[in-house]
Amino acid sequence: MHPEISDFVNRIESSNTPWLPYGLVEGCSFRVLKTHEASNTVVLNFLMPPNCTTQLHDHFCTAMAYTLEGEWMYGNQVFKQGDLAFEVPGEIHQPVTGEAGAQLLTILFGGPGENRFLRNFEEDGSSYTIGMPFLKAVEGITPAELEQIDLEALLQDYTPPDETAFPQ
Ligand SMILES: [Fe+2]
Repeated sequence: MHPEISDFVNRIESSNTPWLPYGLVEGCSFRVLKTHEASNTVVLNFLMPPNCTTQLHDHFCTAMAYTLEGEWMYGNQVFKQGDLAFEVPGEIHQPVTGEAGAQLLTILFGGPGENRFLRNFEEDGSSYTIGMPFLKAVEGITPAELEQIDLEALLQDYTPPDETAFPQ
């Protein structure tokens, strides 16, 4: 007997998934479309306004960012509409936009056993890690629901010990 296809395929309507303010960077928004804990996979949209500088970060996961619209940069690498950034751990970098802004479809893949995704570095030398607990907590929620969540606790819980030096 064949199982129903719906046991295996989720259909997520992004048009019914609210954008949330990404409180970590002024003007940025995001929405988590799907989290899958068994594989530590997260699919989200990320929206950067024009002339935006987001956080310096590195990865614990493989990250894939497909540019749905607009344009953005990592240093002198320019990603235009239709371009894919495929990122493996090992580099610290910082997304910025110019006049256009950009909307991305981003897939974070930690793989089994690795539920940390990104580590963001603050200018004061601190860092914190965005992992599955944070992204699971905000999956598909509304901005009003977001306000009820203790995001700082979710992020701090995942700050890895001892790897927090601000890169020179
Ligand atoms: Fe990155």
